[in-house]
Amino acid sequence: MTVHFIGAGPGAPDLLTLRGRDRIAGSPVCLYAGSLIPTAMLDHCPPGARIVNTAPLSLDQIIGEIQTAHDAGQDVARLHSGDLSIWSAMGEQLRRLRDLDIPFTITPGVPAFAAAAAALEVELTLPELVQSVVLTRTPGRASTMPAAETLTAFAATGATLAIHLSVHNLAQVVADLTPSHGPECPVAIVWRASWPDQQIERATLATIAQAIEGKPDRTALILVGKALAAENFVESSLYAKGYDRRFRPQSADSKFAEDLA
Ligand SMILES: C[S@@+](CC[C@H](N)C(=O)[O-])C[C@H]1O[C@@H](n2cnc3c(N)ncnc32)[C@H](O)[C@@H]1O
Repeated sequence: MTVHFIGAGPGAPDLLTLRGRDRIAGSPVCLYAGSLIPTAMLDHCPPGARIVNTAPLSLDQIIGEIQTAHDAGQDVARLHSGDLSIWSAMGEQLRRLRDLDIPFTITPGVPAFAAAAAALEVELTLPELVQSVVLTRTPGRASTMPAAETLTAFAATGATLAIHLSVHNLAQVVADLTPSHGPECPVAIVWRASWPDQQIERATLATIAQAIEGKPDRTALILVGKALAAENFVESSLYAKGYDRRFRPQSADSKFAEDLA
């Protein structure tokens, strides 16, 4: 018996990996994190599967479900939205499973920030302009932030910021970022990226609050940084004519020529 943790992607049913789909199909029990998993994902469960929405359950109850399946020798598909490596609460489940000697696998998924960037048709890193992306959030009711992880500190790097779980807190985000980035800094908000009711708003730090009046205050990503609206960035060396590289040696003397021979 194995618990298969599966990143179920940002929402669109076809943004599930093939491995994730197959693990769901092979598991007679499916535990899914309610609000952000489309029900279409559950169509991959085998007939007669026990399907449980874990949104109203405590960690103890979730582990209880897993223990019951373990005792019955039944594999469990454990679905979380996006990828499992960020804000999935997988860490605490893994710790319990290690203590209980219950085996598990982990199948990554498409994270929401990638789906939001795709919806915006942007690359979040651009040559010489910005080469880092910070995946962060602001404090929430259930989660404080470590003292050093402030938006102001991240803003100082100039990295593109992908701010999760914070659209309800936009005023504070704007207040924290305006001193470093200036009022003209591009901002985009994507609600429910990849879902049929996806919405997008592009603005600046100065105009975003007004632009999103009346919009939902959850399931949105705030992206901030110059990469969102840059046009005059240089092209990457990787594909530049004349750039000597392993897969495109430029002469017989290239140190890479032998590799291709
Ligand atoms: C609990 S976190 C889950 C993150 C997820 N594990 C991931 O890899 O993206 C939930 C937050 O992720 C963001 N999010 C999740 N799905 C989203 C989507 N389809 N569109 C926009 N933001 C989304 C929102 O900021 C939301 O508040």
